Amino acid sequence: MNPSTDFIPYARPCIGPEEEAAVLEVLRSGWLTTGKVAKAFEEEFAAFVGCPSALTVNSATSGLHLALEALGVGPGDKIVTSPYTFVATAAVARHLGAEVIFCDVAKEDYSIDPGRLEAILAKEKGIKAVIAIHIGGKPCQMDRLLALCAKAGIPLVEDSAHAFPSKLEEGYAGTLGDIGVYSFYANKTMTTGEGGMIVARDPKILKRMATMRSHGFDRDAWDRYTSTKPAWYYDVVEAGYKYNLPDLLAALGRAQLRKAPAFLAERQAIAGIYIEAFKHEEALVLPPSHPAHSWHLFALRLRPGALRIGRDEFIQALAGRGIGTSVHFIPLHTMKYWSERYHLHPGDFPEALAKFQASLSIPIWHGMPKESVERVVGAIRETCLENRART
Ligand SMILES: Cc1ncc(COP(=O)(O)O)c(C=O)c1O
Repeated sequence: MNPSTDFIPYARPCIGPEEEAAVLEVLRSGWLTTGKVAKAFEEEFAAFVGCPSALTVNSATSGLHLALEALGVGPGDKIVTSPYTFVATAAVARHLGAEVIFCDVAKEDYSIDPGRLEAILAKEKGIKAVIAIHIGGKPCQMDRLLALCAKAGIPLVEDSAHAFPSKLEEGYAGTLGDIGVYSFYANKTMTTGEGGMIVARDPKILKRMATMRSHGFDRDAWDRYTSTKPAWYYDVVEAGYKYNLPDLLAALGRAQLRKAPAFLAERQAIAGIYIEAFKHEEALVLPPSHPAHSWHLFALRLRPGALRIGRDEFIQALAGRGIGTSVHFIPLHTMKYWSERYHLHPGDFPEALAKFQASLSIPIWHGMPKESVERVVGAIRETCLENRART
């Protein structure tokens, strides 16, 4: 890639010879599916975040599905989450026949608003779980959320798809609530192409998720081929899913996990450059900062009225300068399925709507050349300058 001329994507995985060697080793090992490499990945990840154990899954979506299932969420139950998320966060509740109550995001960030959540918990009956999302990798207001959920006796699931590694004083994001789910999708802070990891406070919940991850088997495939019981024998104790992560992908994950601290340092450095570059730009609102931010996303907002162009044209102008961007997120309540199911209007969640309308995620990835970061800064400055509203 030529950083001076080529298109700069908003996200890009960073794969090196270590990942290639690890995958090749599995390819040559004679065991491709979930086995000892996935187990080692689980152990190493658990040690990293300071949990006794962790569970690999083939996506964070599966992880969230398993999480709600293990918490006993079923038909007629309700879960609360924010509309400012990727659809998987809410869709998994529907897979289980449960309903979703949306709660707007806080004024100061992109995550569920504790004040509004408190009002919902006080009013609604039948809530089985709250799912809080660490949008972009900025931790939610965890102390307030944990206190509210504890008071209501409702489990808190952390959608930590963006928040690895986000280390707060109390511990890593994802390990503070009842269940934490991480994503290793291709654009995430570490990747297995597709994949995810789950941690849970209660070992019984983790055990339930392990069983449901693999067809409801009483033993996993690796155990079947390594234990003293005959390999062909298994019992099925539940109607489970098939959500396991193969060793081929776990090998990638182990190599990426070793690099996670260095990856984080790179993204922090890029975020620092952006913050410095744009802090005096009147047309832009910087993303909320936090010492434990994983900087999976760097979402700028356009200050209303400051430019002659809107967010969509701003994105086009950057694309014209070879800069890729994305939008995180289109709020779920503005989408056909969710708006029709719950009779929702765009203005029902004003914070989520306003943030969505003004936001764009700009390139931030470990391995991003310095010249590319400088090009992004230059293109954004020029676009602001050329389109400043006349006062
Ligand atoms: C907030 C959030 N939750 C969950 C997911 C689902 O992750 P996965 O693609 O690993 O299923 C994503 C994916 O981008 C996400 O952004």
